Amino acid sequence: MPRLIREALERAGVADPGRASSGVDVVGDIAIVRLTGFARGEKRKIGESLLREMKNVKVVLEQEGGIEGEYRLRKLTRIAGEKRTLTLHRENGCAYRVDVAKTYFSPRLSTERLRVAEEASAKERVLNMFAGVGPFSVLIAKRAGARVTSCEVNAYAAELHEENDRLNKVSHLVTVLNGDAAELPKLVSGKFDRILLPHPSQADRFLPTALAMAKKGGRLVYYRHLLGEDEAEAASALREELKGLLPPRSRSTVRRVRDVGPRWIEMAAEIRLPA
Ligand SMILES: C[S@@+](CC[C@H](N)C(=O)[O-])C[C@H]1O[C@@H](n2cnc3c(N)ncnc32)[C@H](O)[C@@H]1O
Repeated sequence: MPRLIREALERAGVADPGRASSGVDVVGDIAIVRLTGFARGEKRKIGESLLREMKNVKVVLEQEGGIEGEYRLRKLTRIAGEKRTLTLHRENGCAYRVDVAKTYFSPRLSTERLRVAEEASAKERVLNMFAGVGPFSVLIAKRAGARVTSCEVNAYAAELHEENDRLNKVSHLVTVLNGDAAELPKLVSGKFDRILLPHPSQADRFLPTALAMAKKGGRLVYYRHLLGEDEAEAASALREELKGLLPPRSRSTVRRVRDVGPRWIEMAAEIRLPA
């Protein structure tokens, strides 16, 4: 837990901050806190303390449960500060309008986004099948100068994505489609050099669509949440899953992205299709 947050919880009278909170995300000027056990009875005090200690924070929300539903949303209630869920978040030199209650966004993926953007090049045509408000797509267009097609089923997220394209001056490179990724072969023509599937709970269902839309020798970045005692166990589960799904002579390397829960690990597979 970051020192600032630990101190804010201590000042709010929480004796053991490590046990009271299972994590805090700061998105723009909104802090999202997950409280455990006895700390839930002290939530107003904790919220006010976080507001006082973290000068850039204007809203404190409590998250209950995980990320749920088709749009991958958090269940949030306000515990201190202004009554809003829309903010402006800065990351990797880009700015994003995010509604933390009505669209998916995780600041914990910023390093992953940079890593993926650094792999892309200006010559490529990139498809992001699950784009959210655009943090992968905007960064790829901005850093690599690649042309990107984004797909997003949540209409409000797609609207914010277009706003973020304008904000970051990449509208000429990025096309946003509001719809179901399963319909993409009907909506776009031509094939892609690089396809992202950043939807770890559902990506396996969409892999056949991605394979049908990839060029020969193309690359896919495939994300999954896997159960495992450690990275090695999660990696072997991912390799096993891919065995039955990829065409012969595909090559893939797998890596850990982050821990997402007790024994759950977010993993990525970098897949290179045969030429
Ligand atoms: C885990 S989020 C990732 C969003 C974004 N890539 C990011 O890192 O912020 C998955 C996104 O896929 C969207 N989604 C879910 N099902 C979809 C589908 N069938 N077609 C297109 N988008 C979908 C959700 O609304 C959500 O915004």
